[in-house]
Amino acid sequence: MKTIIAITLMLAALPTVAQDIGALTAETKKSVLPLAPKVVAAMQEAVAEKGVAGAIPVCKEQAPALIKEKRAETGWDIRRVSLKTRNAERGTPDLWEVRQLADFNIRAANGEKIDTMEKSEIVNIDGKPVFRYMKALPVGDVCLKCHGPADGLEAGLKAKLAESYPHDQATGYTKGQIRGALTVKRPL
Ligand code: HEC
Repeated sequence: MKTIIAITLMLAALPTVAQDIGALTAETKKSVLPLAPKVVAAMQEAVAEKGVAGAIPVCKEQAPALIKEKRAETGWDIRRVSLKTRNAERGTPDLWEVRQLADFNIRAANGEKIDTMEKSEIVNIDGKPVFRYMKALPVGDVCLKCHGPADGLEAGLKAKLAESYPHDQATGYTKGQIRGALTVKRPL
């Protein structure tokens, strides 16, 4: 009898949680996702106007600045992470993020579209519920100029990257791979 009550209570609780995740996901996406196309557009523009080496500040300063602005506006923890970082100080994923990034790669290998690939979950951090959201960032044409195979990178760019990022792991990508993810943490 106890078991039945427990199961009934669990089932009764499920739809609320699901609904919460749905609403939280929608709200988070609405606020955070416009950042990604903004960065891509700025990148395309900068590469066209200033050349590849001249466009480094878009990924180095402009993208982090846009994220910082959004953090201030929302109070959420928002970052860019990758399994192969250029700037490990900013872009190293935590354990939950590593798991999702690995899972994104598996999902992509199984044919899922990267453009819409995402993950939402309510997790416990230090005994408190936290909503976590991650959105895959696909490698598009413009990204290859700085994240493509190392031997194909422009010489001037290579020198600049080597200077700023001696431990750069973020090359060798091909179009349609997952470069990393936009990640959001919201304490509930
Ligand atoms: C002009 C060169 C350039 C181009 C083009 C470029 N990036 Fe980057 N990318 C960088 C640099 C430099 C960093 C390191 C930024 C930092 O210091 O935080 C970086 C970092 C990143 C990071 C953070 C994780 C890490 O590796 O440190 C992501 C995610 C990323 N880039 C995705 C992209 C995507 C997606 C595109 C295409 C839309 C792209 N980049 C195009 C130069 C570039």
